[in-house]
Amino acid sequence: MSAKNSRETNGIVFRNPKTEDGKYFWEIAKASKILDVNSTYHYLIMCRHFKKTCIAAEKQGRVIGFVIAYIPPDSPDTVFVWQVAVDAKERGQGLGVRMLVNVFKNVKPFDVKNLDATITPSNKASIGLFTAAARELNAPFMLEDDFFSTDDFGQNAHEAEMLFHIGPISD
Ligand SMILES: CC(C)(COP(=O)(O)OP(=O)(O)OC[C@H]1O[C@@H](n2cnc3c(N)ncnc32)[C@H](O)[C@@H]1OP(=O)(O)O)[C@@H](O)C(=O)NCCC(=O)NCCS
Repeated sequence: MSAKNSRETNGIVFRNPKTEDGKYFWEIAKASKILDVNSTYHYLIMCRHFKKTCIAAEKQGRVIGFVIAYIPPDSPDTVFVWQVAVDAKERGQGLGVRMLVNVFKNVKPFDVKNLDATITPSNKASIGLFTAAARELNAPFMLEDDFFSTDDFGQNAHEAEMLFHIGPISD
């Protein structure tokens, strides 16, 4: 982990994850009861191979939130947020937004100018979160239909996912 990617605000440390954080990410995702819960293996891989673009939020030595993100190979100017979650007891204090801002700060040196995510229209917290992140990053945002349609999910019934695009981000 690079020390410059570790920041502390009000007792919360925002840092790149270590491989072993994968199990805590899985626990938080599962407890959210709203995210698609992937295998522990998947979270471990993200924490190992994509640690530079992911964030763990830690309070008194405990992981209380995470962002899993990566730079898509065909969009090197964009960081794509795949999942973000905060422990239920820690929500509503700006932690989600601060994690996203930290993701952006870490990738900015690589000429990243956009932050993308997908949202399901029924997830109001997610829409509120990315809208607040756009405001915090002082950047325009737009929503685009059907990044993934319900048909794309096949037999696994799933709400359509819309693209939430933030950018260009200049600060
Ligand atoms: C979405 C989530 C990460 C937000 O975390 P958080 O730390 O509570 O978010 P913040 O305190 O930074 O709030 C950011 C903005 O979202 C808004 N928001 C947060 N929860 C909200 C809710 N349930 N409904 C509507 N808006 C909400 C806040 O009001 C704030 O906007 P504001 O600054 O304009 O007031 C958290 O609710 C969570 O873990 N949910 C379960 C997982 C999930 O749905 N993830 C998103 C999809 S990947």
